Amino acid sequence: MALSIVGEMQITHEPVMLKEVLEFLNLRPGMRVLDGTVGAGGHAKEILRRIGPEGVYVGIDQDPNILEIARENLGEASGLYLVHENFLRADRALQRIGMDTLDACLLDLGVSSHQLETAERGFSFQKEGLLDMRMDPTAAVSAFDLVNHLSEWEIVSILQRLGQERYARRIAHLLVQTRQKEPVRTTRQLAGIVERAIPHHGWNRIHPATRTFQAFRMAVNRELESLEEALPGIVRFLKPGGRICVISFHSLEDRVVKLFFRRLAAEGQLKLTIKKPLAPSPAEVHGNPRARSAKLRVAEKC
Ligand SMILES: C[S@@+](CC[C@H](N)C(=O)[O-])C[C@H]1O[C@@H](n2cnc3c(N)ncnc32)[C@H](O)[C@@H]1O
Repeated sequence: MALSIVGEMQITHEPVMLKEVLEFLNLRPGMRVLDGTVGAGGHAKEILRRIGPEGVYVGIDQDPNILEIARENLGEASGLYLVHENFLRADRALQRIGMDTLDACLLDLGVSSHQLETAERGFSFQKEGLLDMRMDPTAAVSAFDLVNHLSEWEIVSILQRLGQERYARRIAHLLVQTRQKEPVRTTRQLAGIVERAIPHHGWNRIHPATRTFQAFRMAVNRELESLEEALPGIVRFLKPGGRICVISFHSLEDRVVKLFFRRLAAEGQLKLTIKKPLAPSPAEVHGNPRARSAKLRVAEKC
């Protein structure tokens, strides 16, 4: 399975596959839309424009800091609700607002560029910060906990599964040796361990720590589990004819979406709007390299 990794140098604030998302969501004035990953509000802004003042937009994010940025970017609008929640509990957020059906839903998965760029959040191996990586700062487990308390074998398993890191054993071994002396506290310390554990190839396209950081981030935030658990609940809210768009950046995420859509299509609950996932155009990737590994899947409620 090819792993899709986004290099950290390639950060922009452009909403990924915006044109395609807007088109597939079939947005019209008055619609009720759930955006499970509002981020800085890039997609949100255009969604709001299309659904107009009589529409309802519910934007969820598990990161309260980024919700503040979304609030600033989106301003005041009637029918705009921004909620600090995991999309896993979208039903709770929707019920609080008194919404029981949706016309459209978007999930634009993964980490936002703002999170990567903020050193103290600990997401970036290029910026010194404490090992945190929690998208939701109120969550119990941080990267520090995983890095310092999991067994060597558990670390190997995370790096292999979520990072598809071929040097997982070497990295985990050196990590465990290092933390026996003192805990590994910072992003640069962890990156240094990876750099020492991995044979250096001058031709490497991505930094050697990219896969390790991605793997720990996905484990800290339980990204695959949340997606898997969230999809059935969200789709239940969709009206017949309502569409769901999911943009993923990791092959395992895309697989979760693919299998879920296929299962519901076989049960007659969903119709696949596009059979194969859509990739961004070469022009978009050129202008926004973060989009490079994006895959968009779209389905419609029957
Ligand atoms: C790629 S960014 C979204 C960017 C946004 N579409 C835009 O155009 O600005 C992903 C966002 O989803 C949030 N997120 C990731 N997993 C989440 C989850 N399980 N529940 C709620 N928010 C989540 C992250 O905190 C991040 O802000």
